[in-house]
Amino acid sequence: MTPALDIVGLCGSLRAASLNRKALNLAGASMPAGMQLEVLDWRGLPLFDGDVMAQGVPAAVTALTERIRRADAVLIATPEYNFSLPGGLKNLIDWISRDATQPFALKPVAILSASPGPLGGARVQYDLRRVMLFLNAMVLAKPEVFIGSAAGKFDAASGECTDEATRKFISAQMLAFEGWIAGVRRLRG
Ligand SMILES: Cc1cc2nc3c(=O)[nH]c(=O)nc-3n(C[C@H](O)[C@H](O)[C@H](O)COP(=O)(O)O)c2cc1C
Repeated sequence: MTPALDIVGLCGSLRAASLNRKALNLAGASMPAGMQLEVLDWRGLPLFDGDVMAQGVPAAVTALTERIRRADAVLIATPEYNFSLPGGLKNLIDWISRDATQPFALKPVAILSASPGPLGGARVQYDLRRVMLFLNAMVLAKPEVFIGSAAGKFDAASGECTDEATRKFISAQMLAFEGWIAGVRRLRG
């Protein structure tokens, strides 16, 4: 039996009722049978500080770095804050980017975003792509998933997605992600 592809999920929002976390969970549930998602907890990471790093990388950073390095791929669901990345998510990426093994290099990555606004976080996705480009990550180009007006598309209590089109977009992206991960593997040899 082929082992499951090990996908780690990062949510750019920490709040319990996060729409992006709901979208990430839906993506996990929509993955083809050979893929398995584990959403990582990065709450409480210290702010990146070169002096702190010089004294020793915090254990929480090392654990996340190792987990991402081991994973077959990374799925990021993030809100847009002030037309760009949430500071916490950028801080997490900045920490990981300082690791000598470069865990994001040649790592397949897929991105989605949800917002109560109409554009669904379109702008954060392009900023995040730019950041991941610098890290040599292999970011899935398409299909893109922008979940606009997302507050009306997830049940507030259960977190279930009530919008059929959103379900279909996310399923299609996860299918493409599976193919992308296989393609990147072939390229890496
Ligand atoms: C600091 C801050 C800045 C925000 N800026 C934007 C923005 O630029 N574009 C947007 O669509 N929504 C913006 N929002 C609204 C978020 O999309 C909304 O709060 C969303 O629900 C956050 O994602 P979450 O539900 O996963 O926590 C902002 C929210 C906060 C807290």
